[in-house]
Amino acid sequence: MLNSLGNKKMGDIYLDNIDLNEKEFNEKKIVLESKLRRIMITLTNECNFRCKMCRWSIRKKDLTLPDEYIKQITKLFPYLDYIAWQGGEVFLVDYFKDVFRKIMQYPNILQEITTNASLITEDWAELISMSNIRLIVSIDSLDKETFSHIRRGGSLEDVIRNISLINKARERNNNTRFEMGLNIIVMRSNYKELETFIDFAKQYKFNFLNFMYLVDTLAPEEHIFEPLDLEPLNYLRESMPKIINRARDYGIRVCYEFEPLLSRGSIVINISSLMGSISDNKSGGGYSYRISKAALNMVSKNLSIDWADKGIIILNMHPGWVRTDMGGTQAPLSKKISVRGMIDVIKKVKDRDSGKFINYDGAELPW
Ligand SMILES: C[S@@+](CC[C@H](N)C(=O)[O-])C[C@H]1O[C@@H](n2cnc3c(N)ncnc32)[C@H](O)[C@@H]1O
Ligand code: SF4
Repeated sequence: MLNSLGNKKMGDIYLDNIDLNEKEFNEKKIVLESKLRRIMITLTNECNFRCKMCRWSIRKKDLTLPDEYIKQITKLFPYLDYIAWQGGEVFLVDYFKDVFRKIMQYPNILQEITTNASLITEDWAELISMSNIRLIVSIDSLDKETFSHIRRGGSLEDVIRNISLINKARERNNNTRFEMGLNIIVMRSNYKELETFIDFAKQYKFNFLNFMYLVDTLAPEEHIFEPLDLEPLNYLRESMPKIINRARDYGIRVCYEFEPLLSRGSIVINISSLMGSISDNKSGGGYSYRISKAALNMVSKNLSIDWADKGIIILNMHPGWVRTDMGGTQAPLSKKISVRGMIDVIKKVKDRDSGKFINYDGAELPW
C-alpha cells in the first residue's frame, strides 16, 4: 500500500517510525519526532446497559467523541501497533464500523475492544473475526437471573448468541491473530459461580479470563473485599487454585488481582529495573521509564511494611539488561540466565528480604 505523502510503502513508514523512536529513546530525547505507537481511546460514555456497579450507568449526558477527532487520529494509523477502544459501549457509535474497517487496512495494528457483546451483528462478527484483535467480553454471570441483576438492561441469551456468531465467523476465517477473553468483576452476587466460567470459556473458545476487583462505591453491597468478608474470602481461597488448574489444563490464561487472597508465605515479585534507582542514575534520560520504576520501588517498599504482619513478602527485582525486544541485541544477558537467576533468588527468599531491591543474581541494589 502506498502513502500519499512521499509514496512510501505503508510497511516502511511503520518500520521507519519504530527505528526513529528507538533511536530517540537511546539518545534520551525528551521531545520526540517519532509518532505515537500505542493509544487508548474512550470513544463514548453511552451504553445500552445500566450495570449496577458501573459509573456509566448513572451518566448525566451521553458523550461521544466527535468524528473530526477520529479523523485527526486516523493520521496516526500508519505508525500504530495498538489501539484500545473503551466505552461505554463502542458498538453504539455509528461511525465506529467505518473506522474499524479503515484500521483493518493496517495489519500491524492490534485492536483491543472491551464490550458487553450485546450489539454484535453477523456483519460485525465477520469483520471482527478477520481482524488483528483482542476482543474482551464482559459477562459477570452465567446465571440468567444474576446476569440481569448485575448487567441491567442486558440479556445473557443475546450475549451468548453473539459470541456464537463470532465463533462461527472465526471458523470460516481461521484467523490466528484473533484472541477473545472474558472480564468478570468478582462480587457478592457471583463469587460462588466463578468455577463455571472455565467450562464456558472452553466451550466458547475464549483464550483468557480476567477476574477483576470491584472498584467504586456505586454498589457497596456487592463488595466482598472492602470491608473484607471472610465467608467469600475463604470460598475464593479454596476455589481459585482449582479454577487456575482447570484453566491451565484447557490452555486458558487466567489473571486475577485479589490481594486478600494472598496468604502468609505468599511472595509478590514486582519486576523493576536498575533504571529506577536514583543513586545509580549516572546517565540521565529515559524519564518516563525511570519515573515509573522508581514509583514501583516505592509501592513495593510501602507494601512490604503494610503487609509485614500478614507474612506476605514483596520483592523489587531487576532482571538485568536482557536481550529482548526492549533490551535490544547489544544487551549482555540472555533471557535464560536472567530468568534462571530470578527463580533461584525467589526460591531462597526469606521474610527479612521483603521490600528489598534485588538483582537477578541475588545482589542487593541501591535505591
Ligand atoms: C466500563 S466497561 C466498558 C466496556 C463495555 N461496555 C463492557 O461492559 O465491557 C469496561 C469494563 O469495566 C468493568 N467495570 C464496570 N464497572 C466496574 C467497577 N465498578 N469496578 C471494576 N470494573 C468495572 C466492566 O465490567 C467492563 O469489563
Ligand atoms: S455495559 Fe459496560 S459501560 Fe455499559 S453499564 Fe455495563 S459495564 Fe458500564
